[in-house]
Amino acid sequence: MGNGIAQVFAAKGHDVLLLEVDEARLEKARSAMRSSLDRIVKKGTLSESDRDAILGRVRGTTRLADLAKASLCVEAVMEDLAVKSALFQALDQVLPPDAILATNPSSISITALAADTKRADRVIGMHFMNPVPVMALVEIIRGLATSDATYAAVEKWTRELGKTPVEVQDYPGFVSNRVLMPMINEAVFCLMEGVATREAIDSVMKLGMNHPLGPLALADLIGLDVCLDILRVLHDGFGDPKYRPCPLLIKMVAAGRLGRKSGAGFYEYVPAAAPAPATA
Ligand SMILES: NC(=O)c1ccc[n+]([C@@H]2O[C@H](COP(=O)([O-])OP(=O)(O)OC[C@H]3O[C@@H](n4cnc5c(N)ncnc54)[C@H](O)[C@@H]3O)[C@@H](O)[C@H]2O)c1
Repeated sequence: MGNGIAQVFAAKGHDVLLLEVDEARLEKARSAMRSSLDRIVKKGTLSESDRDAILGRVRGTTRLADLAKASLCVEAVMEDLAVKSALFQALDQVLPPDAILATNPSSISITALAADTKRADRVIGMHFMNPVPVMALVEIIRGLATSDATYAAVEKWTRELGKTPVEVQDYPGFVSNRVLMPMINEAVFCLMEGVATREAIDSVMKLGMNHPLGPLALADLIGLDVCLDILRVLHDGFGDPKYRPCPLLIKMVAAGRLGRKSGAGFYEYVPAAAPAPATA
């Protein structure tokens, strides 16, 4: 998500600093951005020189201190309150006092993250959808203390990115994942109980409900670990058993079958073929 967010800001002319934990992760992010932009070049809607200019506007770093001049920071680390919270506290120390600190969570509370900082009025949720360069929606989530000025600034930024902002209040899963995850979880229960095969479950939802992707294929795209984390936040946050994660989902994550990013989830994914070596 982080590289997608960096790409869309850079595509609109912003200078972006992408923070990662190490050089290898930065390289992975650069290569994901390049592949995404190459697909747009192939379609003929972006020139090679514009692609290079976009990539040139994204600088990578592994040093938090380099963010000292940022006016907007969008955090997109894993869906784990302890990890996000530790990073938020560190970012609060480094960012300029008037900078907006946004988070791209799937379900974690904006209000809880804001409470870890000294700028709760300038903390907000910017929930981009996957894949970021393609999807139009950004759920903008107001924490309890988010100011109107912060909301207005982030809404403006979102529109300038060519995205459509939708205002949402801070409750577990917001709207998107509160509605989506129970459907995905129910599809996994159907698979576990042998109600139908993976293909049949996905076909029912694609052909019957006009969904572009079936729920199991969508879970693979999102990441099964991310889906599990979100269901746990919904389950804990509402205390309602209807959000209990399906045991099969828990088992898949324990096995490291995380979806596309690990090469296998409910489906198997073959890595893109390496280009054939040039021959003389
Ligand atoms: N995957 C989706 O479809 C999706 C959609 C919307 C929102 N989200 C949310 O976006 C966030 C990121 O999800 P993802 O799927 O991209 O996760 P991911 O695990 O693929 O990526 C997280 C990245 O954060 C980096 N990271 C971890 N700690 C860091 C630190 N202290 N400083 C800098 N970088 C650090 C990791 O190296 C990793 O590259 C999560 O909160 C997730 O719930 C995900």
